[in-house]
Amino acid sequence: MSDPLVARLRRAGCVAAEEEAALLREAASAGSSLEGLVARREAGEPLEHLLGWAAFCGLRVPVRAGVFVPRRRTELLVERAIEALRARTGSVVAVDLCCGSGAVALVLATALRGALGDRLELHATDVDPVAVDLARDTLGPHGALVHEGDLVEALPRGLRGRVDVLVANAPYVPSGAVRTMPSEARDHEPLVALDGGADGSELQRRVVRSAPEWLGPGGTLLLETSQAQLPDLLRLAAGRGLAADGLRDDERGATALHARAAG
Ligand SMILES: C[S@@+](CC[C@H](N)C(=O)[O-])C[C@H]1O[C@@H](n2cnc3c(N)ncnc32)[C@H](O)[C@@H]1O
Repeated sequence: MSDPLVARLRRAGCVAAEEEAALLREAASAGSSLEGLVARREAGEPLEHLLGWAAFCGLRVPVRAGVFVPRRRTELLVERAIEALRARTGSVVAVDLCCGSGAVALVLATALRGALGDRLELHATDVDPVAVDLARDTLGPHGALVHEGDLVEALPRGLRGRVDVLVANAPYVPSGAVRTMPSEARDHEPLVALDGGADGSELQRRVVRSAPEWLGPGGTLLLETSQAQLPDLLRLAAGRGLAADGLRDDERGATALHARAAG
């Protein structure tokens, strides 16, 4: 016999209706009203906001309404960041710029704290106080410091020239394209998390321009982007003295700028 909840979710346009039904039942068994959750899902709220977590790099990362839901494609940045940090010796400094929920920093802490202990210094920043509150709740127990403010301006000055890995998933959707995004993003994620300015690359360019001042010798910048935006960012990074190439993962639809400081 067919499951009426699955049928209802399917009618609402949920592609993975069976999986969503199981997850919503699990959330309801932890105290929420199943009917309330399903009605909100039918009205278009992101599943992750209803569950209170998003699956990311094998973790359940806490998320809440008003905060960007981590995407699978961003796992590419995290994997490369872990590789780059493992290759460093001595103390290592990692920064998750535009951290949103703190998903990237949480995975870095989970993957590396055991091996590196106090040798790992982890910072995260975001301009949105709602995201900063959530990231502080999530990352505080992992010994990461979360700063509120505009890109690198939020970082402690003492980190200049000391950052081993700078990871950034800054907004990169052109302003005019935000209205063409799926409703789950457009109507339920904050505009500040999506809108990358007229051509989508305004924040990305600012990240690349400021990176050389903050990276230590041999330090790495990993910046999520799109295939269309990558060539300009590669030129900009090279012009700033960084050795840059592009990363691509077709399966996850991920593109990133990978740039290294000399040294
Ligand atoms: C695409 S979301 C990425 C969030 C998180 N890194 C992730 O991958 O799940 C972009 C984030 O950048 C933040 N942001 C936007 N403009 C910013 C700025 N000027 N300085 C710092 N953070 C900013 C937004 O608040 C949002 O949380």
